[in-house]
Amino acid sequence: MSDPHAPVDVSAFPHDFLWGTATSAYQIEGAVSEDGRSPSIWDTFSHTPGKIDNDDHGDIACDHYHRWREDIALMRQLGTNAYRLSVAWPRVVPGGDGVVNAKGLDFYDEVIDSLLAQGITPSVTLYHWDLPQVLQDRGGWPARETAEHFAAYAAVVAERLGDRVKHWTPLNEPLCSAWIGHLEGRMAPGWTDLTAAVQASYHLLLGHGLATQAIRAAVPGAEIGIVNNLAQVEPATDRPEDIAAARRMDGHANRWWLDPVHGRGFPADMVEVYGVELPEKAGDLATIAEPLDWLGLNYYFPSAIADHPAGPAPYADSVRRLGVPRTGMDWEVDANGIETLLLRLTHEYGARKLYVTENGSAFPDVVRPDGTVDDPEREEYLVNHIAACARAARKGAPLAGYFAWSLLDNFEWAYGYDKRFGLVHVDYATQARTIKGSGHRYADIVRRHGSRSRRAA
Ligand code: IFM
Repeated sequence: MSDPHAPVDVSAFPHDFLWGTATSAYQIEGAVSEDGRSPSIWDTFSHTPGKIDNDDHGDIACDHYHRWREDIALMRQLGTNAYRLSVAWPRVVPGGDGVVNAKGLDFYDEVIDSLLAQGITPSVTLYHWDLPQVLQDRGGWPARETAEHFAAYAAVVAERLGDRVKHWTPLNEPLCSAWIGHLEGRMAPGWTDLTAAVQASYHLLLGHGLATQAIRAAVPGAEIGIVNNLAQVEPATDRPEDIAAARRMDGHANRWWLDPVHGRGFPADMVEVYGVELPEKAGDLATIAEPLDWLGLNYYFPSAIADHPAGPAPYADSVRRLGVPRTGMDWEVDANGIETLLLRLTHEYGARKLYVTENGSAFPDVVRPDGTVDDPEREEYLVNHIAACARAARKGAPLAGYFAWSLLDNFEWAYGYDKRFGLVHVDYATQARTIKGSGHRYADIVRRHGSRSRRAA
């Protein structure tokens, strides 16, 4: 184990670097039936027996809907100057399209005002997987109309918050919505249908382009990006089959999501692998390639990929490398992956501005008898990944911010509440929040960078 207390050299980061934390609506808000919110596909999925560990669900979660003031105070304690939150579509437009729920918008309005009053820059995500169930019932993302309704909802939020929010992303990790939700079935809506998955992927990207146009029309000076959870993939062996499998996985997890938004169209090799006709209409590719101001990278772990002809598309799977450190999610720990991906986005995709929009680790926390929470493994993960970001910045990656996942322990989707990613511990029985050792360490890194920047100014 490297020394987590050793100083981290972040001098390569600009003085106006955004140091943030990230969360998402369904994972923290709770209050699922309050003030006019309608059910989302995650309410349905999490209440389907057997889908979520311990049959957990987001009904209460971190009760952030009622405790958001306390949570913003925690951000202040951490010294962070940015916060990445998501807006819940079913709170704002409960019918999926049409009537706007004023109370839903009021909630986010107040949160934004309070963040700004505390000197915290909000970064707003419009879709972190909580599709209104009514739209799922009308076809969900495999249907083109969903992309159009998404753009209309984006316009509503942008018009209300855009006088104060400049930093926007329509989609978080569309890969998870399309591939995990429609092909692997491990996330809502829980389908295992390749054709539907490919159609969903297409309409998610179309929705991203349409929403980008809607935000830009409503918000002068908006800075808009897309947030992808890219995969750092390597062939498990030097067998030609595994090298080809790693290339397919790269197409599935990375190029499918990056190439179209950069005007390169959908990768031809992957169109062939899926063998599904794209639901393309004239002009769609230009909409999908609406210019972006920044790219967001969510990074957690690298993967060794082997050929897997009997599996689902892309007929490739990760293999378990032995002797490698792992998190509580059983994910490999290797900070070099974040550096490699940041440099890839810089050189292969010509990124002008980059954010690490999520990075973090789940480990079982030790709550001491005195109530403090010791989490040296999470602290080491955090420090090593920030150091790797700094290496990427020194090598030319235009990194403008880092958002730790997550501010709070929260509802980790199919894993329920057992997997804790927070810099702040949540006791779900009492909703008490306690800043963990990793949170204090993050605060220290942020503070040192801030005082260095102030000295340099
Ligand atoms: O909790 C999730 C988040 O919602 C999306 N990115 C990955 C995180 C950890 O799995």
